[in-house]
Amino acid sequence: MSTHKNLNLTLKVWRQKDQKAKGNMETYQVSDISTDSSFLEMMDILNEQLINEGKEPVAFDHDCREGICGTCSLYINGEAHGPGREITTCQLHMREFNDGDTIYIEPWRANAFPVIKDLMVDRTAFDRIMAAGGFISVNTSGNTVDANAIPIEKANADKAMDAATCIGCGACVATCKNSSAMLFVSAKVSQFALLPQGQVESAERAQNMVKVMDEEGFGNCSNTGACEVECPKGISLENIARLNREYLSGSVKK
Ligand code: SF4
Ligand code: FES
Repeated sequence: MSTHKNLNLTLKVWRQKDQKAKGNMETYQVSDISTDSSFLEMMDILNEQLINEGKEPVAFDHDCREGICGTCSLYINGEAHGPGREITTCQLHMREFNDGDTIYIEPWRANAFPVIKDLMVDRTAFDRIMAAGGFISVNTSGNTVDANAIPIEKANADKAMDAATCIGCGACVATCKNSSAMLFVSAKVSQFALLPQGQVESAERAQNMVKVMDEEGFGNCSNTGACEVECPKGISLENIARLNREYLSGSVKK
């Protein structure tokens, strides 16, 4: 039995011409939106409507539309990726909303993520943090050790795998009142710190990544835990504790 319904909605959307422009909320009406459609499909319908009216469509980031790429960074009704837990915006469906609702749609807000246009932000600060330590050294000279031949404790393998599910979406930063990137950095450090392959750079990885994190203008972590609640991949705060240990042991090893 189908529970399909159509919704008439008021959208309040952040419009900003470019990085330097001031930006403001604009109001749009969309009608006959199926509850079966995804949030991004609803945005596509809005854009079609704007194009047909000769207006500029709303710029927003998206790519995979299946919760993998981490680009669909929308702040919806005051929540990163909108209502629902452990989902990205592209996994959000219109059935979460009611006919007649007003929906507020904004970009991530953080100094380290400047708005490029409308709902698109520049998250290359994450790339620069990764370049500072989000890698391992592997001997590729022809006598490489098969990764599967290295025994790894199951509990560590599982935790490393969980940390590696971070998609770099930035919801943790957008949610944090300090715009801290600690959950992201902790996931990226943990995925290596838990494995033998990650030990070569272990003395400096956390130190180097945290240094760039601070330089990029992310705030300090004050342990509110909001990041964990909004993370679409359920990255645990346990990783932040591990990052702190790695950072400290790195300063001792220096
Ligand atoms: S830790 Fe979670 S919220 Fe933060 S970037 Fe990774 S997946 Fe996104
Ligand atoms: S579009 Fe790729 S995670 Fe949403």
